[in-house]
Amino acid sequence: MISTDKAREFCPIPKELDHKRMPDHIAVIMDGNGRWAKAKGLPRTIGHTAGVESLKTTLHLCSNWGIGALTVYAFSTENWSRPCEEVNFLMTLFESVLQRELTNLKLEEVKINFLGDLDPLPTALKELIIESIESTASNKGIHFNVCTNYGGRRELVRVAQKLAERSVRGELDPLLIDENVFASELFTASEVDPDLLIRTSGEKRISNFLLWQLAYAEIHVTDVLWPDFDAVALTQALLDYQSRRRRFGGV
Ligand code: FPP
Repeated sequence: MISTDKAREFCPIPKELDHKRMPDHIAVIMDGNGRWAKAKGLPRTIGHTAGVESLKTTLHLCSNWGIGALTVYAFSTENWSRPCEEVNFLMTLFESVLQRELTNLKLEEVKINFLGDLDPLPTALKELIIESIESTASNKGIHFNVCTNYGGRRELVRVAQKLAERSVRGELDPLLIDENVFASELFTASEVDPDLLIRTSGEKRISNFLLWQLAYAEIHVTDVLWPDFDAVALTQALLDYQSRRRRFGGV
């Protein structure tokens, strides 16, 4: 584990990056933990533990480099179909990491949020999640969004239900539903959309992640497995992002 002092050491933006063209919001599909472990002859769970270190490094770098928000896919609505031992391991890992890192996250002014349906999560984890959201709500640093029991389609259905309920109650004219009204019911209502999506381990899919929000994101796929994702890999992703001309449908 990185020591407290090392974890809080300031890391400047690498010289090869244009400081003025950094993304405001980065989304990450942290993939490849299992393959990383398998390649080393280790159980998959060790890959997840190693993945936590990459996540800490990425968050710290994004925070130091002035990126406004980092949103990561920690557990999808589909991940419940994994073997029971792996699901239990992940739930325990989330809880222990949150418990251990909350003080550091507060020192770094990180504002934490969890996006997804938190109801089915173990009670102790849910309580810790609520505590971490509430105790960092007024922090002024990077927004760190952890998608947990999150699915893009389920999020969109939830928005449709919420809008329908408001309409039935007579609070919302269905004809007035536009993109802004719709987005105001997303888990990410208070965030700008991600500018950059990073997916590790070479898979070229978005896997039900932020289906609405990623509409105009630049996508960077790297073969690096998540536990090996480091400052060099993040810099590569940002160089790739800065090489793109974003047209948002224009010419
Ligand atoms: C995907 O790799 C990774 C996950 C489903 C879990 C990601 C979780 C972490 C990195 C821990 C995050 C911790 C906190 C506190 C938010 P995979 O298992 O699908 O890898 P594979 O495709 O190689 O099998």
